[in-house]
Amino acid sequence: MIKKIGILTSGGDCPGLNATIRGIAKALYQIFGNNIQIIGVLDGFSGLINDNWKEMHADDFNGILTRGGTILGTKRTPFKLMRVVEEDKVDKVAKMKENYHKMKLDCLFCLGGNGTHKTANLLSEEGLNIIALPKTIDNDIWGTDVSFGFHTAVDIATEVIDRIHTTATSHRRVMVIELMGNKTGWLTLYSGIAGGADIILIPEKPYDINNVVLALNERCAIGKGFSILAVAEGAYDIKEAKMKRKKRMALRAENGETTATNRIAKQIEKLTGLETRVAVPGHIQRGGSPSAYDRILTTQFGTYAAKLAQQSKFGVAVAMVNNIVVDHPLSDVAGKTKFVPLDGGMVKVAKRMGISLG
Ligand code: F6P
Repeated sequence: MIKKIGILTSGGDCPGLNATIRGIAKALYQIFGNNIQIIGVLDGFSGLINDNWKEMHADDFNGILTRGGTILGTKRTPFKLMRVVEEDKVDKVAKMKENYHKMKLDCLFCLGGNGTHKTANLLSEEGLNIIALPKTIDNDIWGTDVSFGFHTAVDIATEVIDRIHTTATSHRRVMVIELMGNKTGWLTLYSGIAGGADIILIPEKPYDINNVVLALNERCAIGKGFSILAVAEGAYDIKEAKMKRKKRMALRAENGETTATNRIAKQIEKLTGLETRVAVPGHIQRGGSPSAYDRILTTQFGTYAAKLAQQSKFGVAVAMVNNIVVDHPLSDVAGKTKFVPLDGGMVKVAKRMGISLG
């Protein structure tokens, strides 16, 4: 029987982390009463490496369902550096194992995205009892239909598009809205459809600026004086598609760009003569309270994870498949990315609506 568990949140934050922590803790207290001890590992894996944690009590989990961010703090500790001994001479994997055992943990819940799942899998392979839960506004974790944080971000991004829609209409402008998603375009595709965008550009489909211009001109020809582009921050064009990511980013840096968004806006103005503006909501998409959908999802995930711990089922990643909460072996999930399938349902919906994908 488990007696002492740890929880950590790692990687970029998102709405729903606290709601998940609450789901795990409240379900554990229901199962074990006061016989369970909960440790909050602070700032993600960095807290595990540096022995930075605090003992939590039942009261700590009250009032956090609606709270944004994470009460445990989070940090990006890149997976690729986990086995690298850097200047500080710290063997990170050895330290994590040492501290896990020093805390006398029976299990560690790791809440995070793709990077977190990789490190969670590494720790599991090193013999620690790990349960991972899928967090990310990017929705790109393999093996789960949805990750928590995603739908709240879709709601926020949609509101951004809605608000920009009205000003775009008044001024008869083209508005280019950059949405988060470096490798995958789930957030841009979903919020683009929800916000009625006319053109959606995602990393899975390198765009041709001529197709963008064509779509804008077609709208002008039928008297639509304004247009909305939803562009993923990781979108790139057909020329850039021929380059390795490193070269693409180096070239962009030379031109003072990190994303393609401003370039797209300039090209549109030049090639169509239409007045164009850029909007970048950035981290607003990761802030604030989780939506009702995410509160329910996180409670489903958290309580399921508690049950897994009760059954001593470790080395697993919690997931949602066809509306049922399941778990996969961590080793199946780690190192994979769930891209938007270009022959998938939502891309078909966009095409049927006449939305240009560039
Ligand atoms: O992984 C979530 C995410 O918000 C991505 O969409 C985005 O590219 C990245 O994090 C931004 O990271 P940071 O908060 O470290 O700037």
